[in-house]
Amino acid sequence: MKLFIDSANIDEIKEVAGWGVVSGVTTNPSLIAKEGKDFKSTILQICRIIEGPVSAEVLSLRTEDMIKDGREYSSWHPNIVVKLPMSEQGIKATKILSNDGIKTNITLVFSANQALLAALAGATFISPFIGRIEDTGHEGMSIIEEIRTIFDHYVFDTQIITASIRSPQHVTMAAKIGSDISTIPHKILKQMFKHPLTESGIKQFSEDWQSLSSYKVPQGV
Ligand code: E4P
Repeated sequence: MKLFIDSANIDEIKEVAGWGVVSGVTTNPSLIAKEGKDFKSTILQICRIIEGPVSAEVLSLRTEDMIKDGREYSSWHPNIVVKLPMSEQGIKATKILSNDGIKTNITLVFSANQALLAALAGATFISPFIGRIEDTGHEGMSIIEEIRTIFDHYVFDTQIITASIRSPQHVTMAAKIGSDISTIPHKILKQMFKHPLTESGIKQFSEDWQSLSSYKVPQGV
């Protein structure tokens, strides 16, 4: 499973790019607004940091405007993926953009049927939102299992991006199910490194090594 970062924060993206294990970026209007900077220049800056798919979301609600915006975004940089909402208008726009060879990501997916519609429209990616399902008190991960089964059954090329991740456990579960990608907030990516036994083990090895280097071979031996 590939790892993407779910962020529009340039410092966060630069930091994770340095690890060499994050291969794409997803943004959404809320994440862009949080940074308070120009949309196009932020997206282009991200494209220069991570060499992989960078999702940029359309804001219009009419099919014609989504197509126009999608065509424009995709002209900015070859790695840009046009993110469109799960709706009749979004699916219509996806079909047309896919026919043009433009990469698309259907966002706000909350059911297997929505994922099926997106795959039939030729979407490159779909983003089911796990955390937001769980925020409503329902179990979230089973939607990833359902979509994986359907996509494998009919050999759809559409890739599943498990999104709205709230914990490292969500990442493990997505990987076990066979999600193609997980898009993960910076904080959760950092948590993935951590284990108390790793930290205490590193400390112990370092202390033991230092005690060995301070050992002096007695004279005359
Ligand atoms: C994915 O593409 C979305 O940007 C994101 O995962 C939404 O997550 P949230 O529910 O934490 O806002």
